[in-house]
Amino acid sequence: MIGSINHIAIAVPDIRAAMAQWQERTGAEISDIQTLPEHGVHVAFIKAENGKVELLEPIDEHSPIAKFLEKNADGGMHHICFDVADLIASRDKLIAAGGRVLGSDETRICVRGKPVIFIHPKDLSGTLIELQQA
Ligand code: CO
Repeated sequence: MIGSINHIAIAVPDIRAAMAQWQERTGAEISDIQTLPEHGVHVAFIKAENGKVELLEPIDEHSPIAKFLEKNADGGMHHICFDVADLIASRDKLIAAGGRVLGSDETRICVRGKPVIFIHPKDLSGTLIELQQA
C-alpha cells in the first residue's frame, strides 16, 4: 500500500524567516516561494537527496494550516506524505479497515498537481498522513 515518502510538511508562521534559517543553518537548497490561493498556503521546497520538505505558511486565517499554527505558534511538523501506486485502492483499503479520510472521501488535487487524500490523524498515531498518487 505505502510507497516512498514523497515529502514531509512543516507549518511555519513566516516562510521567509524559515527559509533564511534553513539556508543559514543547514546550507539547504530551497525553491522559490509559490503562493497557492486555492490551497490557502505559501509553499517552498527544501531539497533533500531522497525527497523534500515543504515549508507551508498560511495565506490567511481560513487556511487549512492556520489552526495548527494557533496551537503551535513557532511552527512544527504538519504531515508526512507517501506515494501510493493506486490511490483509490489505498483509500478503499483504509476505509474498509475503519480509517477515515479527512473531508470528503473524494481525492483532491494537491499543491503539486497530483491527486491526494489525507488520513485522519486520530487513525494513524496522532499524525496527519497524506497519500499521493505516484
Ligand atoms: Co503535503
